[in-house]
Amino acid sequence: MRDAYIVSAVRTPGCRRGKGALAQTRPEKLIVQAIDAAIEKAGIEKGAVDDFMLGCAFPEAEQGLNLGRIAVQIAHFPDAVTGATVNRFCASGLEAIAQSAMRIMVGWSDVCMAGGLESMSTVPMGGNLPRPLPDWAKEKPDVYISMGITAENVANRYKITREMQDEFGYHSQMKAAEAQKNKWFTEIIPTRADRFVEKPDGTIVRETFVQDFDDGVRPDTTMEGLAKLRPAFAANGTVTAGNSSQTTDGAAVNVIMSEAALSKYGVKPLVKLVAYTTAGCKADEMGLGPMVAIPKLLKMTGKSINDIGLFEINEAFASQAYYCAQQVGLGDKKEWTVDSQSRRVNINGGAIALGHPLGCTGSKLAATLISNMRKKGVKYGVESMCIGGGMGAAALYELCE
Ligand SMILES: CC(C)(COP(=O)(O)OP(=O)(O)OC[C@H]1O[C@@H](n2cnc3c(N)ncnc32)[C@H](O)[C@@H]1OP(=O)(O)O)[C@@H](O)C(=O)NCCC(=O)NCCS
Repeated sequence: MRDAYIVSAVRTPGCRRGKGALAQTRPEKLIVQAIDAAIEKAGIEKGAVDDFMLGCAFPEAEQGLNLGRIAVQIAHFPDAVTGATVNRFCASGLEAIAQSAMRIMVGWSDVCMAGGLESMSTVPMGGNLPRPLPDWAKEKPDVYISMGITAENVANRYKITREMQDEFGYHSQMKAAEAQKNKWFTEIIPTRADRFVEKPDGTIVRETFVQDFDDGVRPDTTMEGLAKLRPAFAANGTVTAGNSSQTTDGAAVNVIMSEAALSKYGVKPLVKLVAYTTAGCKADEMGLGPMVAIPKLLKMTGKSINDIGLFEINEAFASQAYYCAQQVGLGDKKEWTVDSQSRRVNINGGAIALGHPLGCTGSKLAATLISNMRKKGVKYGVESMCIGGGMGAAALYELCE
């Protein structure tokens, strides 16, 4: 089996659904900018790419049809470059990386691109027209329930209190604020965005501007402020806007190559994708996904939790992210708080502060993790997330010298 190397990994900023900087920008424009930046950083011609695999959790309307193919066409790739769209909900962007890497590993391709996209402003969570199978929905409604309720289930069943969730959310915000202030998000590409503005004469004009930062970060977050927020999903619940991932717009792209392609194009790799796996759990506590996927990944690769220098564990909700971290051996505060210099989990904050653009997230977290692994010289990094329907995904990356 050959190895698959990631040679560039970029993301747009993550911006708030409806209220944020990317809300009026078509999703195609976001993914095309990420593609162009990833190709430019890789230093190759567009024609060198064999295929583009795009992850998207609600691939419909503006981000529908087969946007994987449409995006490479809009980005002026030669007709020979193909594209597909893949959906594993919140792991779609990682699934795209894995499928592209596997294609390289078996020798079917030498250069592939993988990405993720979600404009939650454009297509709402659940899609525009959800149509659950009625008989199945009666027998087993769990696969269709709100993600917020699954977060409440995890909090209730595993005793993750409101205070624990808020504390985890607070540290996510503080880490992100620190990283933003110090300009540590070097994987972000300045992204052209549109906004529609009404002029005094009543006409609407489209203005273009550049957005280069995640706009959901709240540096002024306090534990007292978080404690005042009302439950978002259940009347007496503990899951709030302050301890849930934000709904967000964003895109990310990774370029992946074989060793032969590295030599051919004279490109230096960033990391090698060592392994990828998925694991299932109960749908009504889907947040436990990383708790089953990470140990499975470590077992597959003969690694222990202490061999891994950095983790990106998607913060779909604090209840599940915190509980999963605890269960895999990363619960100690030194692993995830802003005041710990030795923290390994979501070192620059997670989706509670930076947003979770569903299908983009797998690709986005890869870009963030790879950037941090390079800066800190960390040999092994793990990315993981929970997935609606009751799954987890996890991937192990190894730094290239
Ligand atoms: C929880 C949720 C419903 C909240 O939606 P929302 O009300 O639009 O959330 P917002 O981020 O706009 O926050 C609402 C308010 O809460 C308050 N708030 C949020 N975060 C806060 C913080 N850290 N400190 C203080 N107040 C905060 C603010 O008053 C904010 O209003 P403002 O933006 O006007 O200041 C939404 O974020 C959500 O559905 N998240 C989960 C998404 C999901 O399920 N993803 C898939 C996972 S598998």
